[in-house]
Amino acid sequence: MKALVVYSSRTGNTEKIARAIHAAMPRGTGLAGPRDAPDPEGFDFIALGFWVDKGNADAQSLEYIKKIREKKVGLFMTLGARPDSEHAKKCMNSVKALLEPRNTVIREFVCQGKIDPALTKMFESFPADHPHAMTDERRARHEEAAKHPDENDLARAAACFENIAVEPENPR
Ligand SMILES: Cc1cc2nc3c(=O)[nH]c(=O)nc-3n(C[C@H](O)[C@H](O)[C@H](O)COP(=O)(O)O)c2cc1C
Repeated sequence: MKALVVYSSRTGNTEKIARAIHAAMPRGTGLAGPRDAPDPEGFDFIALGFWVDKGNADAQSLEYIKKIREKKVGLFMTLGARPDSEHAKKCMNSVKALLEPRNTVIREFVCQGKIDPALTKMFESFPADHPHAMTDERRARHEEAAKHPDENDLARAAACFENIAVEPENPR
């Protein structure tokens, strides 16, 4: 099985997850950013990692997604919101919808990722009546996100992708 890990990462969170997944994949698996990655055509399995930018996958990942056809795909995503939130589910599902039905998504992994402090500062600068003003709830979410990805996230990501070569037909 020829596999490729393609990831986009602005501040390093998704890159950490990508490296953990890559280490769990068969020897010879490629690792690249969406701009340098080879065409997906020559591969059996594409692990695609993106970060959430305003409710969607980041722009570079969206560009690469357009090239993926008739492949088995594993998606991994990092975001500031909680992984079990409606927002997270919506983001993952909208990316999945871009790939299916012409591809089959056989793995999904989501974890929180530290939010760029510049963005936190921007929220803090908004007046209290602004829809994105810094509330206690938002501050707590940013503080929780700042702890991720942690060792547990990396181990879970690796475990999610480690059986691709031996059981490619068995989605989990
Ligand atoms: C410009 C910008 C927009 C973002 N938009 C969202 C968003 O809509 N929802 C969310 O949950 N997190 C959002 N985040 C948080 C990032 O998705 C999160 O910190 C992610 O882990 C960053 O990944 P990276 O370190 O690989 O770049 C945003 C961050 C930035 C900088």
